[in-house]
Amino acid sequence: MSGGRTSAKGSAMIYLIAAIAGLAGALFGFDEGVIAGALAPLRRDLGIDPVAEGMMTAAVPFGAFIGAIVGGRLAAAAGRRKLLLWSAILFIGGALLSALAGGLITLTLARLVIGLAVGVAAMMAPLYISESAPAKERGMLVSIYQLAITLGILGAYVVGYAFDENWRWMFAMGAVPAVLLFGGIFALSDTPRWLAMRGRSAEAKAALARMRERPESDPAVAAEYEEIRAAAAADEGRKATFADLLSPRVRPALIVAMGLFLLQQLSGINAVIYYAPTVFELSGFSSTTTQILATAGIGVVNVLMTVVGMMLIDRLGRRLLLLIGFAGTAVSLGAIAIAAATGSPSLGVLALAGLVLYIASFAIAIGPLPWVMMSEVFPLDCRALGMSIASLVNWGFNFIVVFSFPVLVAEFGLAGVFGLYAVVCVAGLAFTQWLVPETNGVSLEEIERHLRSGRPLRELGRLHAA
Ligand code: BGC
Repeated sequence: MSGGRTSAKGSAMIYLIAAIAGLAGALFGFDEGVIAGALAPLRRDLGIDPVAEGMMTAAVPFGAFIGAIVGGRLAAAAGRRKLLLWSAILFIGGALLSALAGGLITLTLARLVIGLAVGVAAMMAPLYISESAPAKERGMLVSIYQLAITLGILGAYVVGYAFDENWRWMFAMGAVPAVLLFGGIFALSDTPRWLAMRGRSAEAKAALARMRERPESDPAVAAEYEEIRAAAAADEGRKATFADLLSPRVRPALIVAMGLFLLQQLSGINAVIYYAPTVFELSGFSSTTTQILATAGIGVVNVLMTVVGMMLIDRLGRRLLLLIGFAGTAVSLGAIAIAAATGSPSLGVLALAGLVLYIASFAIAIGPLPWVMMSEVFPLDCRALGMSIASLVNWGFNFIVVFSFPVLVAEFGLAGVFGLYAVVCVAGLAFTQWLVPETNGVSLEEIERHLRSGRPLRELGRLHAA
């Protein structure tokens, strides 16, 4: 990806890029979270059963799964910018279609369209940022993307509260950030790296100079461009294959990236994000308004703790943060499961406190780290393919959790389902302990050299960890 030691320091332009790409993250979060407030009025207006509810809700991650496949295939030919533009159009169309939907089928279709947009945008936006950012700021800028997701979720909860019983307006509001994204893209060129890959050298150099806000003749710009050009030339004609991903060199990175997304999703995060009011209802909060307010509280904690995570990520390192995150989520889920199983009279209070601890533990580590580490662990030649496979794991398991939650709750109750997620979080502790490397303070080149050396990936950076 872009950069090395020669990278220029970030400019206002790179923050504009992060903000515009962040809109894609906000849309991702909004379209996940909006269903929380919309479900109660939808159940009332459309009278849906648990299977139909699961299907309509899970249409977004299902569409995103398809979108990630399509996006992964088209990214090289069409370019990052064009794909973001198409996804903005799909976001706008999907928001309007869901707002105007006459019945469950149209609504499910509309959410499928939105899902396609989410899947494409959720890959393109971090890729766009990482291919445009100076190396030094890349980690922080990718974390901003996670922050944008949590802000989108919170925005959706606020919209759910503001429009109370009107699900049509809730869905329509999703068009607002989509229109901003659409307009914002016209301020951007494609990434210097993609332009260089397509042999459009003059445009690539001009784009880089614009992003660094320096003349093309500036030595720092010239040096960075030379690195990008050399990397693009080395990649020419060389397409990473699935066999490469499974080779002894890359497999450890693939396991870490896929494993972290699998654990992130099976920790049950989206059962909480999509169905928080339902969880509060099951825990004894009877008024819809209280359920939505408690849900908005969850959204606020998610945003704030993501910021705390961003401040800690380079101090505590990835591994310690992940261990704290998985320990916190395991304890909180376990406590809710026990309270629900024993029919504790204080289930409501325990559920609220438990969910706050759960979301806080998720947000400081389990939310941002899979995104950050996915962009760090793969060697350059396999990065795009590896990232697209990791995204597929993310969406595939997101879909499974969201679709199965209403069905599993109907079958096993809240205690059974949360108990299951708690066990996954315990497995997360073991996975982190034995397999996750410490990439904090280790350059991408060092990571790549370590992979080539054949030493276990988990040994990486142990000396760097405080
Ligand atoms: C996950 C989403 C989740 C969100 C919650 C993201 O990192 O990929 O599935 O809804 O965090 O903040």
